Amino acid sequence: MKKLVVLTGAGMSAESGLSTFRSSDGLWENHRVEDVATPEGWERDPEAVLDFYNMLRRKLITANPNEGHCGLATLEREYEVRIITQNVDNLHERAGSGHVLHLHGELMKSRSSGDENLIYDIPVNNPDIKIGDKCAKGYQLRPHIVWFGEAVPMIEKAIDWVAEADIFVVIGTSLNVYPAAGLLHYVRRGVPVYLIDPNEVHAPGNITRVIRKGATEGVKELTALLKQSHS
Ligand code: OAD
Repeated sequence: MKKLVVLTGAGMSAESGLSTFRSSDGLWENHRVEDVATPEGWERDPEAVLDFYNMLRRKLITANPNEGHCGLATLEREYEVRIITQNVDNLHERAGSGHVLHLHGELMKSRSSGDENLIYDIPVNNPDIKIGDKCAKGYQLRPHIVWFGEAVPMIEKAIDWVAEADIFVVIGTSLNVYPAAGLLHYVRRGVPVYLIDPNEVHAPGNITRVIRKGATEGVKELTALLKQSHS
């Protein structure tokens, strides 16, 4: 089976009702990155940080995967699909995708602020992390999110996946945030690269085909194109 590697961003989940970051009504319009997505913001006001991610988690719990997520899961019948996502939601998994790598962490997990190896699932029926919630070693729990200024531990594995791709697809990311945006440089020469986004994205030169659509319609068109060109 050919390896189909997909890099997704917030636009993948937009049609599930989850906000993107950099649009006019996006999350970074209404919240300061330095306040809610940096270690310094956490030091200054952990309660505000917890409130922000508790709000996002509550929204995620009521959201559902869209047809784009489901279409990628269906492609597993014909391809070895590996999804590298910048998204902290779990909609790829809930749609049925079996190989999902989260570059920026996972909203439905908490982790110890004193020991990064202590990671816990957050139950759907008790979704908030509160001040005073502690890990097994007694440290305050924090969201399991990669904040700006923190290392991206999954990037090495992501690079390996990209370098092995026979087909590469980018969906719903403005490619503003590194190291994720740099993954495109690891695609081998000659590998077809598809980009799905309803808006213009400044991508490096190796894009083979731009599908100027939202994720739902875009994944349908991708599936049809793959049937024509790679079967
Ligand atoms: P952005 O908000 O920067 O970009 C979202 C992209 O999705 C844009 O290119 C939109 O045009 C596109 N888009 C909008 N609606 C869409 C739809 N229906 N279907 C497909 N695409 C659509 O989000 P990301 O690139 O994911 O990191 O942002 C990267 C990282 O920046 C995030 O993971 C987050 C943020 O700060 C952290 O919080 C660490």
